[in-house]
Amino acid sequence: MGKTKPKAKGAVMAAKRVGILTSGGDCAGLNAALRAVVHRAIRGYGWQVFGIRDGSLGLMNRPLDVVEFDLSLVTGDMLRKGGTILGTINKGDPFAYPMPDGSVRDRTADFVAGYKELGLDALIVIGGDGSMKILSRLCRLGGIPMVGIPKTIDNDVAQTDYAIGFATALEVACEAIDRLAPTAASHHRVMILEVMGRDVGHIALSAGIAGGADVILIPELPYKLAGIADRIRQVKEVEGRNHALMVVAEGCKTELGEMVTTVQKGNEARYGGIGQYLADHLNKMIEAETRVTVLGHVQRGGVPSMRDRMIASAFGVYAMDLVAQGRTDRVVAWQHGQVVDVPLNEVAGVTRAVDPFGTLANTARGLGIYIGESGIAEAAMCVIP
Ligand code: F6P
Repeated sequence: MGKTKPKAKGAVMAAKRVGILTSGGDCAGLNAALRAVVHRAIRGYGWQVFGIRDGSLGLMNRPLDVVEFDLSLVTGDMLRKGGTILGTINKGDPFAYPMPDGSVRDRTADFVAGYKELGLDALIVIGGDGSMKILSRLCRLGGIPMVGIPKTIDNDVAQTDYAIGFATALEVACEAIDRLAPTAASHHRVMILEVMGRDVGHIALSAGIAGGADVILIPELPYKLAGIADRIRQVKEVEGRNHALMVVAEGCKTELGEMVTTVQKGNEARYGGIGQYLADHLNKMIEAETRVTVLGHVQRGGVPSMRDRMIASAFGVYAMDLVAQGRTDRVVAWQHGQVVDVPLNEVAGVTRAVDPFGTLANTARGLGIYIGESGIAEAAMCVIP
């Protein structure tokens, strides 16, 4: 896509304009949502759609970094394409933006001026809870009507059962367990798979259940190394199996409650390393050898799953309907098998954690999976209706 110059709004009956951007970490299914918004806007309402590049940056940069979509740009191939064709950012707070000269600036005015220069009537933001928080503040300050579409492989956006990207990440994580199982069996090893998810364990819990893990650790539930070791011994002594599978969410802390992180460029900390921590300690406690696989960004890329394409398409169409109806400051959400809309302020900055005694956690307990020191008695109580 080349750069598009914003067209001046005509004097008579100019078409309305919606801007759309992707913000925060990328994931599979973002392009499907973009495609759906463009189709609905142009076909359903005759609106023009401007894609804003690199999250909020496209409106803060001069010249503006935007592209006008037409139907020739949104073919079915977008459904199959991972990442985001618009680009995205997950750093650089616009309220304290690090400038090239080392100074820090509030760039709200640049963002709002960019929105006005483009002659937009509303903004659709595809983002997670963090992006929704930042963008909703920018929009409130600028008087910009906003509609949000939830995305993140972490699946921790409030009020929605599913965010775009989660389903594909789960497929990747489950396939990784499927691939680790035979090599674990061949070598009589304990395989530890570290998956993403930041402060929540949605990926770890779902993929662990689907992949037949013996141990699943999530940030929401405290664990004991001795508890893990006991479960692994049980696998051999009671179940007669010579290998075991563990899934751990990257955001799990050490037994003593310390965070395990790596430092990235710009001194930014990212989770990573809890799998190796567990291996180092378990090696001293159990007979079997351990090996660690860190799945990392593989979970964010690749061809979007069918489910992500479907959810993203439904979100995109519904979000544009909200915009056209003037029902802004809302976020689309997936609840009980359908798309609904919820207030933006109930989503922005709110993290949805795993329910430690919800269906999936109790399913794991029911399957004999060690998911931490949460008490079998409570689990049994919750399972029995
Ligand atoms: O929030 C999505 C996510 O992929 C997390 O699961 C992970 O901790 C983080 O982003 C990684 O961020 P980055 O791409 O900056 O390394």
